[in-house]
Amino acid sequence: MKVLSIVCQKGGSAKTTTAINLAVEATRRGLEVALIDLDPQVSACDWKDIRGDKPPVVAATPVPHLDRALKAAADAGADLAIIDTAGRANDTASAAARAADLVLIPLQPSLADLNTVAATLDIIRLAGGKPARALLARVRAAGSRHEETTAWLAAKGVQVCPIFLGERVIFQDAYAMGLGVSEAEPHGKAAEEIQQLYMYTCSMLGIPTEGGSGREKAKRTRKRIA
Ligand SMILES: Nc1ncnc2c1ncn2[C@@H]1O[C@H](COP(=O)(O)OP(=O)(O)OP(=O)(O)O)[C@@H](O)[C@H]1O
Ligand SMILES: [Mg+2]
Repeated sequence: MKVLSIVCQKGGSAKTTTAINLAVEATRRGLEVALIDLDPQVSACDWKDIRGDKPPVVAATPVPHLDRALKAAADAGADLAIIDTAGRANDTASAAARAADLVLIPLQPSLADLNTVAATLDIIRLAGGKPARALLARVRAAGSRHEETTAWLAAKGVQVCPIFLGERVIFQDAYAMGLGVSEAEPHGKAAEEIQQLYMYTCSMLGIPTEGGSGREKAKRTRKRIA
C-alpha cells in the first residue's frame, strides 16, 4: 500500500479538496482507497457523511492511532492511503509526513501561503525528508501568478508539481454534494486537472495506471515486490 500525505501549515490551502478528489479519482480507476482524516475539523468525514456508502472509506483518526489505521487499511487490502491533515497543527503534519511515500503541499499562489512553505518543509525534513511537491491550487485564469510562484518556489529549492488546480466553483459544489469533480462534472476542466494530478501522483508513487485496472496492476506490482 502506498501512502500519500497532504500537508500544508496554512489553513484553507486546498488540502481536503486535493485529498478527496484524488481519493475519488483513484477509486474510479479501480484502486482500493482509504482516506484517513487526521484533522480534528473532520472536513473529509463531513464530505463522506454527505456521500454515503459510496467508496472511498474515510476514517477520522487521532494522530496516535495513525499507524494502527494504516495497518488496518493495508490488512483490508487498500492500495492507496491518502492522509488529510490540519493547517497549523504540527502533530498531524509531522505524523502524516513520517508515514508518507509522497507528500503534496497544496498552496495558493499568494504571499500568505508562500510564507508558510518554509515551516511546512521543515516539518517534512524533520519527519524523514520524504519526497514532496508543492501543488498550486486556486490558480486564477487571468495573469501569470502561477508561473511567478513556480519560479519563486524553484529558486528556493522547492520542487513544484507540473499540474496546478484552477480556481473553479465546481470544487466547492462537488464537496457540497459529497462528490469528486470527476463525478460532478466529468468533462469539465477541474476533472481534467484532477485526472492529470492523479496520473502524476501515480508516477511519483510507482502506481501503474495503464493496461487493465489500476487495482489489478497495483496488486501484480505488489506481488512482484514481495
Ligand atoms: N481549486 C479550487 N477552486 C475553488 N475553490 C476551491 C479550490 N480548492 C479549494 N477550494 C475551496 O477553498 C476552501 C478551502 O479548501 P479546503 O477545505 O480544501 O482547504 P484546507 O487546506 O483543507 O483547509 P483547512 O486547513 O481548514 O483544513 C473550500 O471552501 C474549498 O471548497
Ligand atoms: Mg481541510
